[in-house]
Amino acid sequence: MRSLNSILELSVEELDQLIATAKDIIAHPEAYQDKCAHKKLATLFFEPSTRTRLSFEAAMLELGGSVLGFSEAASSSASKGESVADTAKIISCYADIIAMRHPKEGAPYVASRAATIPVINAGDGGHNHPTQTLADLLTISREMGRLENLTIGVCGDLKYGRTVHSLIEAMSRYPGTKFVLISPKELKIPGFIRYNVLERNRIPYTEVSSLEEAIHELDVLYMTRIQRERFDDPWEYERLKDSYILNTDKMHLAKERMCVLHPLPRVNEISVKVDDDPRAAYFRQALNGKYMRMALILKLLEEAERDPVREAIDTESLEYDRVCRNPKCISQVEQELPQLFRCTDRAADIHRCIYCEQRG
Ligand code: NCD
Repeated sequence: MRSLNSILELSVEELDQLIATAKDIIAHPEAYQDKCAHKKLATLFFEPSTRTRLSFEAAMLELGGSVLGFSEAASSSASKGESVADTAKIISCYADIIAMRHPKEGAPYVASRAATIPVINAGDGGHNHPTQTLADLLTISREMGRLENLTIGVCGDLKYGRTVHSLIEAMSRYPGTKFVLISPKELKIPGFIRYNVLERNRIPYTEVSSLEEAIHELDVLYMTRIQRERFDDPWEYERLKDSYILNTDKMHLAKERMCVLHPLPRVNEISVKVDDDPRAAYFRQALNGKYMRMALILKLLEEAERDPVREAIDTESLEYDRVCRNPKCISQVEQELPQLFRCTDRAADIHRCIYCEQRG
């Protein structure tokens, strides 16, 4: 039995298979309408969501299954102090699969180690968001006809934008990918992506602060919102919030075949006038998210049926003598969780927390 915490847990072959399944669902929805009959999805959302939660629920309903869950921490026992692990064990008694969103980084991972059913990370703090990436991959494949040899501009909040982290992890594995990272200097890509993914795999990337200067070379432009809720200093957010606004003037500088993606919700970073441009793919992307979540639910439930034992983790390489200092890590709030690290670069002596991937 497998869970999904990071997009890197799926091989490129598996990603391609999920895309193929999603395309088959689009072509033959009736063939899938009873595939999950009598199965239940629990959506445990400790943080706000529209698309992710409802597309998970729509996905399960369209597979003939049913859904239960909560959409805010206040209406769950977390508000009484229940741990993520205990919640996961309890929900395992009532459902067949869990989708969990949590403000603390690594919380779905903790749930996946405690649950006896698969757990899908539906966004953990500013860390990862693998199912948004599944939506992004299907969108790029459908809009551009390929996932290889693309120059991808990622624009906005690259520091706290979890969708960006998972997207870079996924696209780095397709040949010929180049990234143009467009952000203010305060919101540059964090170390666990820069060093573990881009540098380690020698992926070509440039970092710029101007969208106008970069837009002409892009095949895909991935816009993101400045993530207000992740800022410690509200004034810093005020200063940076209007850093990028994609408007029709800027779209004139772009390639005719470029496509614009955005995980949504948007605040003001894409002018509504851009919505009428055929290159604006973000509403189609939201629909694609439902199909990819259907494909993922099917895959994880089939795997769990074949092999109900939880996938083992490699305990050999775990290190127990470090402390995570990231206040947004689940290990900071749940005192009974063991502090666990792994060495990710011997030469540079870099060790990362297994929950949030910050350096210890
Ligand atoms: C994103 C998220 O929650 O990280 N939204 C989504 O899942 N579609 C992006 C965001 O909130 O900015």
